[in-house]
Amino acid sequence: MLITRRHLVAGGVAAAGAAAAARADTLVPTSSQDLGPFYPIVRPPDHDADLTRVKGRSGVATGQPINVLGRIVDRHGNPIRNAQVDIWQCNAAGRYAHPGDTGNPAALDPNFQGFARLASDRDGRFKFRSVKPKEYDTPIGRRTPHIHYSIDGHSERLVTQMYFPGEPLNDIDFLLKNANPKQSVIAEVAERLSGDPQALAYRWTVVLGLG
Ligand SMILES: [Fe+2]
Repeated sequence: MLITRRHLVAGGVAAAGAAAAARADTLVPTSSQDLGPFYPIVRPPDHDADLTRVKGRSGVATGQPINVLGRIVDRHGNPIRNAQVDIWQCNAAGRYAHPGDTGNPAALDPNFQGFARLASDRDGRFKFRSVKPKEYDTPIGRRTPHIHYSIDGHSERLVTQMYFPGEPLNDIDFLLKNANPKQSVIAEVAERLSGDPQALAYRWTVVLGLG
């Protein structure tokens, strides 16, 4: 067959497409992490996407506000819609609203929600507003700031933790060091939202290997 320029271009496009598909097939699943001891025993009635306010109270949670912009995809990069996303975290003083967090001298914050149950949208996205969690001590080591997640996809539940970039304790945290790959559980700094300029913003993509 006579190989024309058109054939070469078409072949190149096909090869590029195949290469892109191969790359998309190799998205690395987000690492799992320990559930930890502080998943709420009783989920609070207020579990919306604004953790800085508690329904029925006029106060605002203490701490540095943050927005987390998340996205859940499968290993091909396809969005996972309507995944259930549970998040829980300590407050800006390092304390969990959990009866098991006993040895911690830090104060509870009555205006901090501490837990949310969200759903990803049709693009696999979810978003919440919170305060930056503080590092805290445990009997086996100091924890770097993190937010806990339990994500129910369509075929998989992922229990993991999301970390913040550039934290000094990230290099020594005894759970983060087990993440594989470590980078999969560290969020990226994002541009602050125009309507919420005082809040730091972070972007995190979760890859559910089985969807
Ligand atoms: Fe924790």
